[in-house]
Amino acid sequence: MSLRHSYTVIAPLYDALLATAGTGVRAASLGQLPQQGDLDILISGIGSGLDLPYLPLCHHYVGLDLTAAMLTRAKSRIGGHRLNLIRGNSMSLPFADESFDHVVLHLILAIVPDAAACLRETARVLKPGGNVLILDKFLKPGETAWIRRTLNLLSRHIVTRLDVIFEEALAGVPQLKLKVDVPVLAGGWFRSICLAKE
Ligand SMILES: C[S@@+](CC[C@H](N)C(=O)[O-])C[C@H]1O[C@@H](n2cnc3c(N)ncnc32)[C@H](O)[C@@H]1O
Repeated sequence: MSLRHSYTVIAPLYDALLATAGTGVRAASLGQLPQQGDLDILISGIGSGLDLPYLPLCHHYVGLDLTAAMLTRAKSRIGGHRLNLIRGNSMSLPFADESFDHVVLHLILAIVPDAAACLRETARVLKPGGNVLILDKFLKPGETAWIRRTLNLLSRHIVTRLDVIFEEALAGVPQLKLKVDVPVLAGGWFRSICLAKE
């Protein structure tokens, strides 16, 4: 089963599972966006749009996702936001270089098969000086975590990878520099990270 197929099946359940989980963490991450201005912001892997309630209304947003069923749910949450929804792949973005002021990568970097490719594409479409806001679960370098690594053999094909080491993914993208990296949930398994493009 591909991720697109499994997220089509998961879509009706996704909000019930995740709508209340980690809302404070999500709000804190998005609170790093400028609260004024008229910026172009990409939400890569927007899913059902759980980020939308925490996004300042002043900016213009593009929400991209691989799964039509998730985009349909995001559409129902648009409210007063200026948001264009696009079906596409976070590892091969359909945008010109330096199109966005900031990019949000919430629960997508550890979902895609190639986190480094996702970061490379993010860096390509980001303007110099822009930030990347990441919220996800990562192994630490050298961490054995054999239960997660074993579960990953199945879970990577249907819902998420459990073996992504953030530092390894970032090493291949020298344009992005680490600004903030804080443990937020599950004993530091989930981290809130902010990168900046030089
Ligand atoms: C765990 S959900 C996260 C959704 C949302 N960002 C959130 O924080 O709730 C992962 C989303 O990534 C999407 N997805 C999976 N692979 C993708 C890819 N290669 N490109 C874009 N979206 C993808 C899925 O359809 C799903 O909506």
